[in-house]
Amino acid sequence: MPSSPVDTCILVVDDDRANRLVLEKRLGKHGYQIETAPSGDEAMKLLEEAWGDPRRKAPDVVVLDIMMPGIDGYEVLRRIRKKKSSHELPVIMATARDSSEDVVAALQDGANDYVTKPIDVGVLLARMQTHLALRDAHLALRNAQQTLIRAARRESIGFLAAGMAHEIRNPFAQIRMGLDSLGKNEAIKDDERAVETLARLDTALDRADEVVRKVMQFSAAEQLDLKPHDLPPLIDSILATMKSGMDSAGIRLETDFARDLPEVLLDHEEFPIALNNVLRNAVQAMPDGGTLTVRVEPQTLEAVPDAGAGRSGTHLRVGEEVVAIVVEDSGPGFPHGRLDAIFEPFFTTKPPGESTGLGLTVARNLVELHGGMLTAENRSPEAGLRVTIYLKSPDSFRTSV
Ligand SMILES: Nc1ncnc2c1ncn2[C@@H]1O[C@H](COP(=O)(O)OP(=O)(O)OP(=O)(O)O)[C@@H](O)[C@H]1O
Ligand SMILES: [Mg+2]
Repeated sequence: MPSSPVDTCILVVDDDRANRLVLEKRLGKHGYQIETAPSGDEAMKLLEEAWGDPRRKAPDVVVLDIMMPGIDGYEVLRRIRKKKSSHELPVIMATARDSSEDVVAALQDGANDYVTKPIDVGVLLARMQTHLALRDAHLALRNAQQTLIRAARRESIGFLAAGMAHEIRNPFAQIRMGLDSLGKNEAIKDDERAVETLARLDTALDRADEVVRKVMQFSAAEQLDLKPHDLPPLIDSILATMKSGMDSAGIRLETDFARDLPEVLLDHEEFPIALNNVLRNAVQAMPDGGTLTVRVEPQTLEAVPDAGAGRSGTHLRVGEEVVAIVVEDSGPGFPHGRLDAIFEPFFTTKPPGESTGLGLTVARNLVELHGGMLTAENRSPEAGLRVTIYLKSPDSFRTSV
């Protein structure tokens, strides 16, 4: 983000009070925030305090006099460079005219630039702006590089997981055949312990198979086939598959689909997996009955919650037109701390052997691949969890792609 003067803090270090006042006044006139220090010690104290306090704005650039009593400008520069590189904190030295050795020494010690005294404020401003722009470009480049590294890592892990899952499926199939044929073996049929062991192996294999299936879902969906679809029939068809489970648990279903819903772009094979995982969690959260509410409505996105407050990564922005699928249950909600934990792979609070803890990880990945966002929040004052899938409205999709 380019620095604007009001967001930019300049630290002026000079033992001469008149020099400090002139710079403070003239740079201040351009809208910059100015801090001043009358000595090298004071400058270091001010910088250390600002760096140690995340709520405080630290200087973005330092204008540093060389000749000062106590620690001089060179020493201040060396101390600054132990903590901040020239990309992070530009330092501009103020030197006496005609002292080229000073300039060379300072540049070798990590100064970004120099101005000669008496300082021409126009020149100082131009040099400062250049170095701030360079710093911002450097930061942007570093951020982009980190994003790329994360994406590459995620892709290679996905690739590895998919490869492993494929490899594991064949031996699993052979073990399954072996177990089946052992189960039919007359000699074993009468051995109670052997039959029990076989049943346990069968259950363990089911579970391992389920993990492999979900890992494959997670990594296979990189290429989606996005087409416009009507959400209500799709949601109804998923709910229909859950009807008998809901009836036997005593769960009441309420649906409310807005009339003016636009079609949304989704992959007809993959998206239902995400929705199914969210709905299944809601049903599982109410073993003794309750109410499951599913609403679908067009919205203008009002807020993007903090990452720690239970949302997936997202490219959606406040003010964007979205379609929200809101799933609410009347279960216990999630009282176990940070809500975004529920999206973590293998995180589960359900009994061992029953769940893989991959349901919402898969859902999150799929929703993100659709360009959407998944959020979870505890309902209040009612009990229960509200999970919302936001999908881009087709119009907003067209303008941003
Ligand atoms: N509607 C909900 N109410 C309360 N807690 C929930 C709800 N949905 C998810 N959770 C919590 O989030 C955890 C992770 O959910 P996720 O769907 O990823 O895995 P799971 O349901 O445990 O296992 P799987 O979906 O793989 O069978 C759950 O174990 C539960 O603690
Ligand atoms: Mg689940």
